[in-house]
Amino acid sequence: MRRGLFVTFEGSEGCGKSTQIRHLVAWLQQQGHTCLTTREPGGTAAGDQIRHLLQHAPQGHGLVPEAELLLFAASRAQLVREVILPALDANHVVISDRFHDSTTVYQGVARRLPPDRVADINHFAVGGCLPNITFLLDMDAETALARLSKRNGPADRMESEPVAFYQAVRNGYLHAAATEPQRFCILDATRTEDDLALAIQQTLSQKFHGFFTR
Ligand code: TMP
Repeated sequence: MRRGLFVTFEGSEGCGKSTQIRHLVAWLQQQGHTCLTTREPGGTAAGDQIRHLLQHAPQGHGLVPEAELLLFAASRAQLVREVILPALDANHVVISDRFHDSTTVYQGVARRLPPDRVADINHFAVGGCLPNITFLLDMDAETALARLSKRNGPADRMESEPVAFYQAVRNGYLHAAATEPQRFCILDATRTEDDLALAIQQTLSQKFHGFFTR
């Protein structure tokens, strides 16, 4: 039986998801919770291979958007059944760096695949395992790209897109959040790191009071 809490983080590259996930894990652990963090694509042996193929392997360079969609879905299907559901059953907090909303937005909006097909495939891949809450770290595309360019190392295949692509990603996320306001919490990702961390903690404590006080 699912007794844990499933939290996802979404947003464009460079929005600060991994930093906030680190803060959140530290806060949850201080309170005695067992946390499991996962990232998408990846998080299982098969998923990590898929991540490599999508982001770095030369064989991934000719992938058509349809194949990309199915690979993201395959990685997620494995992650849900192998890792996420058992952890939720064990009362853990699962924190995922991206989940199905990334597919809705990147494949269904920015790559312009038919949104209803993307929704069907998403649904099939997750099999009803949906986040309790999704933090959207929202930031305009130019700022996100400027932040990315300051990171060390060369951009991977998924990061080398024109600014219009990231604008579509941002709009896609805002649209997704507007259609499910009860699940999404939109945060301005240009706020300071500490300020954002506190906002995330407060939101969780208020929204899942029962989970945090039991
Ligand atoms: P990240 O590790 O920086 O979050 O990068 C993952 C990349 O993969 C990012 O460009 C978004 C992309 N992506 C999709 O296009 N669809 C998906 O379903 C997921 C999970 C990620």
